[in-house]
Amino acid sequence: MKTIDGNHISRAIIKDLKKQVAELQGPPPAITFIRVGENPASIAYVNRKQKVATEIGMLSNVVSLPATVSRDELFKKIDELNNDKKVHGILIQAPLPPHRVEREIFNRVSPLKDVDGFSAANLGKLCQEDESGFVACTPAGIIELLKGANVKIEGSHVVVLGRSLIVGKPAALLMMKRCIEGNATVTVCHSKTNNLPSILKQADIIIAAIGQAEFVKANMIKQGVVIIDVGINRVNDPTKKLGYRLVGDVDFKDVYELTSKITPVPGGVGPMTVAMLMRNTLKAYHQQQK
Ligand code: GUN
Repeated sequence: MKTIDGNHISRAIIKDLKKQVAELQGPPPAITFIRVGENPASIAYVNRKQKVATEIGMLSNVVSLPATVSRDELFKKIDELNNDKKVHGILIQAPLPPHRVEREIFNRVSPLKDVDGFSAANLGKLCQEDESGFVACTPAGIIELLKGANVKIEGSHVVVLGRSLIVGKPAALLMMKRCIEGNATVTVCHSKTNNLPSILKQADIIIAAIGQAEFVKANMIKQGVVIIDVGINRVNDPTKKLGYRLVGDVDFKDVYELTSKITPVPGGVGPMTVAMLMRNTLKAYHQQQK
């Protein structure tokens, strides 16, 4: 099928993880989520991740801190969890309130429990192609989506649109890794790129992660391209109960005919991110048993 079904592909991974967890002896893998502030999207994401953790048979806990929490208090909480042997994975939900320096907060998490892969240590391992590290969940999910849809990455020209720590940068590193699921030629574009459409037109695979609603249009791409749409944007829509609908960074209707495969929003990358988080948590658990 032309539309890549992230729900379906993630279900198979979750089913397998559930089986693996059921076969473990002793207390199950445990993940703790830290939420700072009351961002409604972050609350919804953490709830969803907790639901899947429970379904798999993992333990989960949420530490909810006010946006006004001091740097010291936040660090103290992270240190406590770093030292808690019953906690295998720690996730600090992004985005953090604007005055927080995300980098120093992500780096405070023990690399052994950094199931998000956002710490300097784990990003460094990704750069070094060291398999013992944790890879950020959304880029890892993109690879699984492409594999599940039988898209060949090796040798192809992948254009990554966006250079964030959470998606763009690690996605580019993964795609150029020396392995059958990598070995791509990677171009990274962003908001300051000149002649963006001329670069997008050369792509065999586009990974759109720029956070702009329906940015990628049919006149920017070539026939037969595979598109992975990472964007989740709210656009006003009075016909919807909530008054808005979710769209990606790609104008799905506009590009659909030209593409060979494409992910929908929602139901594409989103469910894969959660599945990869659970996979990382199980990996952290196994590493900590040694
Ligand atoms: N915000 C958006 N995506 C992610 C993610 O994968 N992990 C965390 N911690 N926050 C996010």
